[in-house]
Amino acid sequence: MSARHFLSLMDCTPQELSGLLRRASELKDLRKRGVLFEPLKNRVLGMIFEKASTRTRLSFEAGMIQLGGQAIFLSPKDTQLGRGEPVSDSAIVMSRMLDAIMIRTFAHSTLTTFAAHSQVPVINGLSDDLHPCQLLADMQTFIEHRGSIAGKTVAWVGDGNNMCNSYVEAAIQFDFQLNVATPEGFEPKARFLEKAGDRVRLMRDPREAVAGAHLVSTDVWCSMGQEDQVAQRRALFAPYQVNQALLDLAADDVLFMHCLPAHRGEEISADLLEDPRAVAWDQAENRLHAQKALLEMLVEPAYHHA
Ligand code: CP
Ligand code: NVA
Repeated sequence: MSARHFLSLMDCTPQELSGLLRRASELKDLRKRGVLFEPLKNRVLGMIFEKASTRTRLSFEAGMIQLGGQAIFLSPKDTQLGRGEPVSDSAIVMSRMLDAIMIRTFAHSTLTTFAAHSQVPVINGLSDDLHPCQLLADMQTFIEHRGSIAGKTVAWVGDGNNMCNSYVEAAIQFDFQLNVATPEGFEPKARFLEKAGDRVRLMRDPREAVAGAHLVSTDVWCSMGQEDQVAQRRALFAPYQVNQALLDLAADDVLFMHCLPAHRGEEISADLLEDPRAVAWDQAENRLHAQKALLEMLVEPAYHHA
């Protein structure tokens, strides 16, 4: 049986993504006004975390509770997944009991294999390749502060990692120009770049990438699973720190985003999150609202007003 999955931003049309973000802001407003809205009563989300998380776990768990449902945290340490039960068998069994399943994993193929055998929606809560839920929150945050991002210039500075790959997909889906500044050998993956064509420009110099940008975003130099490369990466990425002086080269109304967790003194200067141009706390909060809209769309389409 085929269910609708969200493994990548490309699993939605641009129209669906816009509708989903509008809905996210509506759900945010309902919550701020204290209105109870529980369309997912008796629905259960399973959450498989093979990597650590603060925001993703909390936003999905709190989001399900707020929508009237429940979420169950599953760690490979405590499930048979960690003892070698095949991903495909786990997907068949889990999806017979749950209404949706979120997975944070290493290889992206774990997600695609799980999804191929799941009869309920599977959501990518971060893989080595992509972090689409974070991009929902980032795009919602930009739109709430500045309006449409279509036609704007976005700069990605640092590692061409899972977040960067998702920014490449966002450039296609939300129709913006993306400048990516990375050291040589740390560019986003070719298979994402190929789809983006001239919407994405690769460069070495962070100043060139940021010049005139309306949004500047970065992420840690060492993602989860790369802990053995910390020293080598610190040296290589040092010229890619985002600080006030770099942001000063961007557009006057630039926003700065970081998906968090941040390493102050590495990819950002010590006080950058306190800069008035930074919106990282709004971004973090919007994980909750954007994913509630996503859950509503995937689990209970009748309530989705996109
Ligand atoms: N940004 C993000 O995904 O944070 P967590 O790793 O805390 O979930
Ligand atoms: N690129 C980071 C993002 C964390 C939310 C990682 O994969 O560890």
